[in-house]
Amino acid sequence: MIAVKKNPVIYLILLSVFFYSCNDRQKTIQSLQLQIDSLQKHMANSYKPGFGEFMSSIQVHHEKLWFAGTNQNWQLAAFEINEIKESLDDIQTYCQDRPETKSLSMIVSPLDSINQAIEQKNLSSFKNSFITLTTTCNNCHQATEHGFNVIRIPTTPPFSNQEFSSAQKQ
Ligand code: HEC
Repeated sequence: MIAVKKNPVIYLILLSVFFYSCNDRQKTIQSLQLQIDSLQKHMANSYKPGFGEFMSSIQVHHEKLWFAGTNQNWQLAAFEINEIKESLDDIQTYCQDRPETKSLSMIVSPLDSINQAIEQKNLSSFKNSFITLTTTCNNCHQATEHGFNVIRIPTTPPFSNQEFSSAQKQ
């Protein structure tokens, strides 16, 4: 330290090292900021499915669930109900900006009842809980000003290329 005090050249060297490292840090910050800006732009332009698209997927699985359950194809029914739950989870994740998302919880208990019916392989309670589920779809549509969108018990299987009665009855 005594040497430093006596020698102004050392002061100059220390100062230039200090400024050099500041300048370096500034450059790193600038480059990070550029990367953040470009990521933000990328995210803003990336595709996010909307509420209606998730609903269209739920519509298909709701329909398949009916034919799987009424054919007592319990394995397929369990699969279809999980697909509905996944779409509902996706709505929670991707549609937080939609006020309707807050109404989703009303469907939890009807889904649980169907799950129970599937686990018990009970056809009549499956049918009853499916009716309750469908009523809940419509209750939410009414609550969210989409009451014109009426869901009903399906009458014909949605796809001709999928077998709904189980190949091996469980
Ligand atoms: C959180 C409340 C809520 C619940 C529960 C709900 N929906 Fe919806 N549904 C909506 C809203 C809101 C829309 C309008 C979405 C949009 O803006 O595109 C919609 C739209 C739909 C559409 C129209 C999609 C289209 O493009 O034609 C169908 C079909 C649909 N729902 C089926 C169902 C079925 C089947 C269920 C029950 C298993 C269900 N929904 C449960 C809120 C709900």
